[in-house]
Amino acid sequence: MTTSYETLTVERKGDFALLTLNRPDKLNALNSTVLSELKTVFEAWGKDSEGLKGVVFTGSGDKAFIAGADIAQMSDMTVDEAHAFGFLGQSVTLAIENAPFPVIAAVNGFALGGGCEMAMACDFIYATNTAVFGQPEVKLGLIPGFGGTQRLAKLIGRARAKEIVYTGRNVKAEEAYRVGLVVSLFETKDDLLAGAFKTLDYVSKVSPNAVKLSKKVMIEGNDLTVEQGLQTELAQFSAIFSSEDMKEGCLAFVEKRPAQFKGC
Ligand code: COA
Repeated sequence: MTTSYETLTVERKGDFALLTLNRPDKLNALNSTVLSELKTVFEAWGKDSEGLKGVVFTGSGDKAFIAGADIAQMSDMTVDEAHAFGFLGQSVTLAIENAPFPVIAAVNGFALGGGCEMAMACDFIYATNTAVFGQPEVKLGLIPGFGGTQRLAKLIGRARAKEIVYTGRNVKAEEAYRVGLVVSLFETKDDLLAGAFKTLDYVSKVSPNAVKLSKKVMIEGNDLTVEQGLQTELAQFSAIFSSEDMKEGCLAFVEKRPAQFKGC
């Protein structure tokens, strides 16, 4: 089943979905319509995951994942309009980050500015060998506004992130892979999508409840000291002992049979 929005399509593929940003004539640039639709989709999944065990997020065409926030729209914004636009973009990144299942960014070309920021809000990034990342905002007299000043440093370290943000330079796929921004590289877009769905397939065989809680604890840990993070981990680690999936997973191991997880 495929659900179409003005700028997005959501294609259900069994336990998974392929979310495609569909504005190829503008290299999938993020205007208010795209951002509002992304927010609607991810916030709905935050309330009801519809049984999904993972989502692959990509851009239509072969040239761009997302070439950034829409520069034409931003060019005549007032300070108040820019605040609302930045707030909307940031809320999309939070909705992606907090989705109750893994979201893989499948970056098939340019992921610049807001594109790099949307990819970084996903759980991890797979990319084609020809993908290009970057935070080029300073070249426009801007700064990153959808999380780039925060998430890039957390992913690749502060010094590397500063060098990329201050210069606005392009980061080719090979470098992005080397510094840990990208987890896996692929030859073609078809290989990229197949690779992303193969990973989700592995994830779908383990306990969805355990994946959801691991994700929650790891995201919360981003903003905590190690000691605070360990407390959160311990609370969830012990609470999960009351779950059916935990009993089933451990019993299945002892009985030397595959586990049948229910996600609770
Ligand atoms: N916002 C609005 N429109 C954009 C855009 C963006 N971020 N990125 C690309 N587009 C549009 C172009 O204006 C062009 O539209 P047009 O055909 O109506 O003129 C179309 O997408 C194709 O882009 P074009 O620049 O012709 O493609 P290219 O292959 O020559 O260059 C890029 C590709 C990605 C290098 C170039 O488009 C670019 O630098 N984009 C802006 C990147 C950026 O600074 N992003 C951060 C924004 S904060």
